[in-house]
Amino acid sequence: MTLAMDDLAEALVARLRAREATAGVIGLGYVGLPLAAAAARAGFSTLGFDVDPSKPERLNKGESYIDAVGSEELGALVQAGRLHATTDFGRLAECDVAVICVPTPLTRQREPDLSYVEATVKTIARTLRPGQLIVLESTTWPGTTREVVKPLLEAGGLRSGVDFFLGFSPEREDPGNAEFGTRTIPKVVAGDGAAAGRAMEAFYGAVVQTVVPVSSPDVAEAVKITENVFRAVNIALVNELKMVFERMGVDVWEVIEAAKTKPFGFMPFYPGPGLGGHCIPIDPFYLTWKSREYEMPTRFIELAGEINVSMPRYVIARLEEALDRRSGKSLGSAKILIVGLSYKRNVADVRESPTFKLMELLEGRGAEVQFHDPHVPAIPPTREHAAYAGRRSVPLTDKTLAAADAVLISTDHDAVDYGLIASRAALVIDTRNALARRGLGSDKVVKA
Ligand SMILES: NC(=O)c1ccc[n+]([C@@H]2O[C@H](COP(=O)([O-])OP(=O)(O)OC[C@H]3O[C@@H](n4cnc5c(N)ncnc54)[C@H](O)[C@@H]3O)[C@@H](O)[C@H]2O)c1
Repeated sequence: MTLAMDDLAEALVARLRAREATAGVIGLGYVGLPLAAAAARAGFSTLGFDVDPSKPERLNKGESYIDAVGSEELGALVQAGRLHATTDFGRLAECDVAVICVPTPLTRQREPDLSYVEATVKTIARTLRPGQLIVLESTTWPGTTREVVKPLLEAGGLRSGVDFFLGFSPEREDPGNAEFGTRTIPKVVAGDGAAAGRAMEAFYGAVVQTVVPVSSPDVAEAVKITENVFRAVNIALVNELKMVFERMGVDVWEVIEAAKTKPFGFMPFYPGPGLGGHCIPIDPFYLTWKSREYEMPTRFIELAGEINVSMPRYVIARLEEALDRRSGKSLGSAKILIVGLSYKRNVADVRESPTFKLMELLEGRGAEVQFHDPHVPAIPPTREHAAYAGRRSVPLTDKTLAAADAVLISTDHDAVDYGLIASRAALVIDTRNALARRGLGSDKVVKA
C-alpha cells in the first residue's frame, strides 16, 4: 500500500514538474481568477470553474473583471489554449490538482458559513480519482481541512494520503498592492501527510516564487487567521487611540507618522471609519467560533470587533457635532456627500465596506446622501446591502460640492480631486487624513 501511495505521489510530482498536469481552480473571484491566471502562466493547462456562468463567459472572452489581472494577459492565456473556464463540474475529472477558492462568509448570527466549501467538496468527491491533489484556499478555522473536507472526500472510499492528496494553502492577495502580486507573495503550504506535502510544494513551487511549507493543514489554516487577527486587533488599537487622543487635542495621524520613524518594534496601522473587505471583519470570528469548543474565549478578537464595529457611529457623531457647531444644521436636514465607497484605497471592491454602514446611519437619521467614487460608477449587488444596488456615483464638481452641507471622506482614493474638495466644500469630515496629508488641511476639515 505504501508503495502504491509513493508511486501515485511521485507520478503526480513528476507531472507537476514537467507541467503536464492540469490545474483546476474552483471559484473564479478575487482569489481564484488571479490564481488560475498564475497557474496558466506557470505552464499548467488550467481549467476554471464557477457556479456563476457570467464568470467563465467573461474569462473565455479574455475579459478580466478583477483589478489584479489584466485583460490583455488573460486574453493571451486563453488564446494560447492554456486557460479555459467552465460551469461543467464533470470536467473536474480532468484535473490533477483542484484548488477550492469559494467564499467563507459568516451567517447572520456571525458564525462560520462553510456551505460553499462543503458544496464544492461534495462536487469534487463525485469525480475524485486516485492521484488527484485537492487543495483548500478559502480562509477558515484551524482543523477545517482535516475535520470537514477530508471526511467528505473519503466518503466514496478513497483515502487521503493513500489514494488522493489533500492540502491547505492560505491566500494572501492584497488588492491594489502594486508591489506584490500572486507570484511574488510567499505562499504557506501544507499537506495532509508527507506525500501530500511534496505534491503541494511541487504545485505551488511552480506557481509562486517562494513556498513556505508548514507541518500540517491545521497550522496553515492558523497562519492565515493569525495574520488577519493581527490586523484586526492593531486597527482596533489605533481606532481607540484616535478617540482618546482626539479628546486630548492630539492628532493621532501625526503621532503615527512620528512613531513609525522608530526603526524597530513599531509597525504603523491607520484608523478609519470601520473595517471593510472580505477578510479582516470576518475571518477572526472563524477562530472565535472554533475556540468555544476548547472553552477558550478569544477576548482580543471580541474587543477588537467591538471597537471596529463602533467606528461608523463615532464618525457620524463627529459629523453631527461639526455640522451643529459650524452651521447650526441638524443631521436630519443635512445633505451629505460621501467620497469613497469601496472598502479600500484605489480598488473597486465594496464588500463589507463600512461606507454602507455610514450611509445607513445617515439615512436612518433623515440625511440626504450622495456618494462619489471614481472606482464604483454604480453600486453592484451585495448580499448585505442589496437595497443600495444600482445607486450611482455623482461627479465631483463645484455644483455637487456646493450642494452638500458636508463632505465625508470615507476612502482616500488617489483619483479624487482633493484640491477641489478643500476649496469648495463647506465642511469636510476626513476619516483618512486625506486632506492634511496633501497639505490641504484647514479649520473646516474635521478629522474623525
Ligand atoms: N479577496 C481577498 O483578498 C481574499 C484574500 C485572502 C483570502 N480570501 C479568501 O478566499 C476565499 C474566496 O474569496 P474571494 O474574495 O475570492 O471571493 P469571491 O466572492 O470574489 O469569489 C468566489 C467565487 O466563488 C464562486 N462560487 C461560489 N460557490 C461556488 C461553488 N459551489 N462552486 C464554484 N464556484 C462557486 C462565486 O460565484 C465567486 O465567483 C474566501 O474564503 C476568502 O476569505 C480572500
